[in-house]
Amino acid sequence: MLFKLRQSWELPEAAATPEDIYMNRRQWLKAAGFTGLGLGALFAGRGPLASSALAAIGGYPFARNKTYTLDRAITDEVEATTYNNFYEFGSSKNIWKKTRNMKSDPWTVTIDGMVETEMTLDATDLIDRIGGTQERLYRHRCVEAWSMAIPWSGVPLANLVKFARPGAGARYVRMETFMNPVIAPGQKQSWYPWPYVEGLTIDEAVNELAFLATGIYGKPLPNQNGAPIRLVTPWKYGFKSIKSIVRFTFTDERPVSFWEQLAPTEYGFWANVNPGIPHPRWPQRTERLVGTGQRVPTQMFNGYGEQVSDMYAALGITDPRELYY
Ligand code: MTE
Repeated sequence: MLFKLRQSWELPEAAATPEDIYMNRRQWLKAAGFTGLGLGALFAGRGPLASSALAAIGGYPFARNKTYTLDRAITDEVEATTYNNFYEFGSSKNIWKKTRNMKSDPWTVTIDGMVETEMTLDATDLIDRIGGTQERLYRHRCVEAWSMAIPWSGVPLANLVKFARPGAGARYVRMETFMNPVIAPGQKQSWYPWPYVEGLTIDEAVNELAFLATGIYGKPLPNQNGAPIRLVTPWKYGFKSIKSIVRFTFTDERPVSFWEQLAPTEYGFWANVNPGIPHPRWPQRTERLVGTGQRVPTQMFNGYGEQVSDMYAALGITDPRELYY
């Protein structure tokens, strides 16, 4: 999510920001060069790569959970696997070939922090043990105002939370992507706060929609889509859906996510899809369907209000703006 307009960074926010963070942002801006999102996909030599990962999990395609239906056609598989955001491999949408060197099998995942027993285990073993594999159709809405509709395979995140047995004081789950600048050259760009981090409240993590995807289109995830295991939170903007997770940390401190560190006034912790809160570069009232180019109205919570609004009401959140920051 690069920035096309320098000006938005240099508004009052800069004055209120600690100098080290501000300098870090300025270096980042300079180096990022505002090449920007919304340049459109560059589809040279396209073709999805099913190079992953958790292939040891049998049973693909998993039975579809029919609770989750779509109001639009499923996005073409080639589009969904060649138009990606994965900044570890660069800032263009066309990074799928660059992810080829990533080895997503074997893969270890650590569960730590405020849990009964900290552990590090093989991702295949983890998925096997937490159980609940299934396929779900979800809308997928990026803050850049494009969207897709994707058949994800995986397990409910709630199953991982249950497996981890967090202590009563744990309020958040912080997730972290791998760190390896040798295979992910984007991580050599020191103005980004690597590794990529995201977080959810425990309530959000156990919400029925929160999903750990291990596959897409009835097959293991290709690297560019976050192999071997990534988050999918369809009521939030896509940047919350952290890819290639290596660590789940249960904590009582609200995690500061990758994009939030760079631009807290632009990328909120909650980041719930909200057509009423415009982003400085992307008005949010409508979205472009990747593949067809059709523009459709954006819905509050990306259309998942029925599943999540009670959860926020129970937290006492009534101001819709809080649902973004
Ligand atoms: N996770 C990591 N580790 N690195 C990233 O750059 N990009 C995010 C999210 N997860 C990102 C990430 C953004 S901005 C979006 S919109 C989605 O991944 C894109 O997922 P997709 O490429 O599968 O459509």
